[in-house]
Amino acid sequence: ADTDRSAVLEAHELTAKLYNYLLNNTQHGRAAKDYLRDRGLGDKLINHFMIGYAPEQWDTLSRFLTARNFDPSLMEKGGLLSAKSDGSGYVDRFRGRIMFPIWDRDGKVTAFAGRIIGEGQPKYLNSPETMLFTKSRTIYNLHHARPAIRKSKQVVLFEGYMDVIKSWSAGVKNGIATMGTALTEEHCSILARQAEEIVICYDGDDAGQAAAMKSIPMLEGAGLRVMVAMLPKGKDPDEYITEYGPDDFLREVIDQPVTTTKFKLIYSRKNHILLKEEGRKNYLLEAAGIVAELDSAIEREVYLQELSREFNFPLEVLKQDCHLKHQELQ
Ligand code: UTP
Ligand code: MN
Ligand code: MN
Ligand code: MN
Ligand code: MN
Repeated sequence: ADTDRSAVLEAHELTAKLYNYLLNNTQHGRAAKDYLRDRGLGDKLINHFMIGYAPEQWDTLSRFLTARNFDPSLMEKGGLLSAKSDGSGYVDRFRGRIMFPIWDRDGKVTAFAGRIIGEGQPKYLNSPETMLFTKSRTIYNLHHARPAIRKSKQVVLFEGYMDVIKSWSAGVKNGIATMGTALTEEHCSILARQAEEIVICYDGDDAGQAAAMKSIPMLEGAGLRVMVAMLPKGKDPDEYITEYGPDDFLREVIDQPVTTTKFKLIYSRKNHILLKEEGRKNYLLEAAGIVAELDSAIEREVYLQELSREFNFPLEVLKQDCHLKHQELQ
C-alpha cells in the first residue's frame, strides 16, 4: 500500500543518514574511512554521494528502526533487514560493509549497495528487488547527473559505482552506471530520453569489453549515438584515475572516444593472429562484415581505405566484399 511505500522510503532516507554518520563520526567507521581515503575518496566526495558504513553487529539498524516504530517485517520486505532463519525476529541485512545509497530519478534513496572492505565475496551486496527498487530500471547517479546530461546531451556510462564517483571528482558530471554490467532495454530507453550521445566507458578487461559489445546494439537500437572510451588493458576508470590522475583521464580517455565501428574492429583484431596469413585473411573478412553494417558508403570507404593501407591489400577487393555483405544486411 501507499503508506507502506512511504514508510520504506522514509526508512531508507534515515538509514542512509545513519550509515553516513557512523562512517564519519564513530570508531566503528574508522577502518572504512581509512579504506576510502586510500582509494582517493575524501570527505567532500563521501558526503556528496552519502557514502556510509554498516557496522559488523547484527542489530545496529534493526534497533534503530524499531526504536522509531518502523514495522520490522515491512523493513524486511523493503530490503533493509533479514528474517532470522528460526523465525525469531530480524537482523540487519548489511553488516561490515561500506554503504552506497542508490537513488531513484527523484533523488530518493530506494536501495543500497554494500561493499566489503578489502577482498572477499560477494564484493558488493545489493538490496533485493523491492516495491521501491527494480534493478533493471535503476540507473546509478542519474538524479545527480541529469542537469549535466541535459546540458551536454551526452551521458557517460560506467560499469561501477566507484567509477562514477571517481570520475565525478575528475570532472565528469554526466556519468552514470547500471547495477553491474547488465544493461537492459529499459535502461536504454530511459537514457535515450535524456541524451543524444552516450559514451561507453567500461573496464579495460575482457568482461568489460565483451559487455561493451553487447551494449552497443542495444543503445543504438534505442536511438542513441554511441561512442566508446577505451582504457588500457586491465584498468577500470577508478584505477586509471588513481594511477594517472584526473587530467590525464579526461584528456586521454573521456575526450578520445572511438566510434563503435573502430571499437568493433579493435575487438575483432584481438581474436586473430595477424602475423599469420590465415589470421590476416580472417580478420579482413570479419572487418569487412563490421564495416558493412554502416549505412553510409562514404563512411564505409574511409574504414576500408584504412584497412587497405594497413594490410597493403587491394581496396577494390575489400570494397567488393564489403558491398556484398552490406546488401545482405539490407
Ligand atoms: P567490478 O568488479 O568491476 O567492481 O564490478 P568495481 O566497480 O571496480 O569495484 P571496486 O572498484 O573494486 O570497488 C562492476 C560493478 O558490478 C557490480 C557493481 O555494480 C560493481 O560496481 N557488482 C560487482 C555487483 O553487483 N556485485 C559484485 O559482487 C561485483
Ligand atoms: Mn569489472
Ligand atoms: Mn571495475
Ligand atoms: Mn575492481
Ligand atoms: Mn574499480
